[in-house]
Amino acid sequence: MNILPKLATIVFAISLVSSPATSHGGADGATLVRMDAMTEIQTTLKKLKSALSPAAFSQTDVEAAFEDLRTFGSALPALFDENHMPHVSEASPTIWQNKKDFAAEIEIFNSSVEAAAGKVVGTPQQVLRIIGKGCQSCHTNFRVKKN
Ligand code: HEC
Repeated sequence: MNILPKLATIVFAISLVSSPATSHGGADGATLVRMDAMTEIQTTLKKLKSALSPAAFSQTDVEAAFEDLRTFGSALPALFDENHMPHVSEASPTIWQNKKDFAAEIEIFNSSVEAAAGKVVGTPQQVLRIIGKGCQSCHTNFRVKKN
């Protein structure tokens, strides 16, 4: 599925509902939208994993997952456009202090998705590892883990 219309729906829903959201440790606004997108792409990776399994390989599901990953990749700049950091956010302040590096990080992710797409035929067991490295790189550099 396409994430962008969903994001728009979420933003719209937030503007309608004034009561605080309860998921993600009480995140709201831009932070909630971005956390939801992250959670959703994690689900996409799980779906991709089963779609790639030799016993239940599904070309259709693999393609759908890559479409979601590409949509997520192109939505990343907008997801982090607003410097919105309530105390619950794990987004590093350097995202907004060092926009060039963050933009480069997004490119690393998009390249890892394309590199992984090239492995579906031949070495499918490498696909998730390559994408996971792309996710991990940004989390290492721009996510501050809270306990
Ligand atoms: C360009 C940077 C970047 C990329 C790429 C990225 N993330 Fe994230 N991710 C973040 C940041 C920053 C946060 C913290 C957001 C916040 O708390 O506001 C985060 C948070 C998360 C969370 C926690 C969400 C929550 O509810 O608190 C999950 C799950 C996650 N990412 C999964 C992924 C997966 C899976 C991928 C790869 C498919 C990925 N991310 C790619 C930057 C990135």
